[in-house]
Amino acid sequence: MNILKEQQVHDNLQNQNKTELWDEYRQLTEGLIRNLDGKRSILGGRALLLGAGNGNDLPLEFLEKGFEEIVLVDIDQSALDRLLTKVSDPNKFKTVIADLSGVSDQLPSSLSDKSEAELIHLMEGLTYNPTWATSIQGQFDFIMTCHITTQLVAPVFMNQVSFLPSQFGAFNVNLNKLANLVVEGLIEAIQSLLSVKGVLLHSTDTFELGFDGNGNPLRPHTAEIIKAVQGDLSKLYTIVPLLGQLAEKSNHITGSTAPLEVFEKLYDRLTTFVNAWHFEDSPHFQKYYIVFGYALTKKA
Ligand SMILES: C[S@@+](CC[C@H](N)C(=O)[O-])C[C@H]1O[C@@H](n2cnc3c(N)ncnc32)[C@H](O)[C@@H]1O
Repeated sequence: MNILKEQQVHDNLQNQNKTELWDEYRQLTEGLIRNLDGKRSILGGRALLLGAGNGNDLPLEFLEKGFEEIVLVDIDQSALDRLLTKVSDPNKFKTVIADLSGVSDQLPSSLSDKSEAELIHLMEGLTYNPTWATSIQGQFDFIMTCHITTQLVAPVFMNQVSFLPSQFGAFNVNLNKLANLVVEGLIEAIQSLLSVKGVLLHSTDTFELGFDGNGNPLRPHTAEIIKAVQGDLSKLYTIVPLLGQLAEKSNHITGSTAPLEVFEKLYDRLTTFVNAWHFEDSPHFQKYYIVFGYALTKKA
């Protein structure tokens, strides 16, 4: 199996039973889409969901009622099969099994036998191949990146390396560059599929927060974000203007902060949302993702 696919099949199996825990987050996403519909009347048309996976983070009932046709893209067929068991009319959905990273067919079958210099050389030579977009017909009124840009290349490179990369060393610098290249390729390919009045909701997990069983922040960057919102996650909107600054010192998730110029070339920004996604809940560990949602429209 391709290394990118292997990683995602594993992760989707791990997260397949999180439907209940993610209920509140799905409701927040439904609210965002309703809000966007208020601005651009997107409901009733065609939707394209990139990285739909198990569908546990998506308000499926609302989407199914709201759109005429929904196209789901994912590298993991089994996750999309699980999603389709949760909808009322699977005929409304089309599935496309494809690689959105644009680099999977340029990767070797393993990275763990490679030195840091070899991996850097490999990363420098990768280019974005947008073949997935050519297998999709027509244009869409609503396109959503379902927390996918952080998943495309970073997890497989970080999990497979056999050395400990230093935080600001050459390996991480190149991995960030690769993640940005891939997001740029993806965002460009999406533009050709978005209708003139359509909306792209680029939804991306941006910071990971961890707490111990007593609610104490586990890592310095968790404490940094909590300080920025004065201890209250319902005040997350206050960090929107601080994103650049916080991303530098608070360890943003690789693939979440592609440079703004990449977006500004092709899109106008309607609005920015920020929400907390309660991702893991156990007596000894709580995990949240701080998710930024950028609502974008195609430049005229
Ligand atoms: C963070 S998950 C999103 C969660 C998912 N919507 C759910 O509720 O299970 C990211 C999704 O992107 C998919 N994905 C990751 N890398 C991909 C790639 N290169 N091409 C296509 N899909 C990919 C994964 O299979 C997974 O379903």
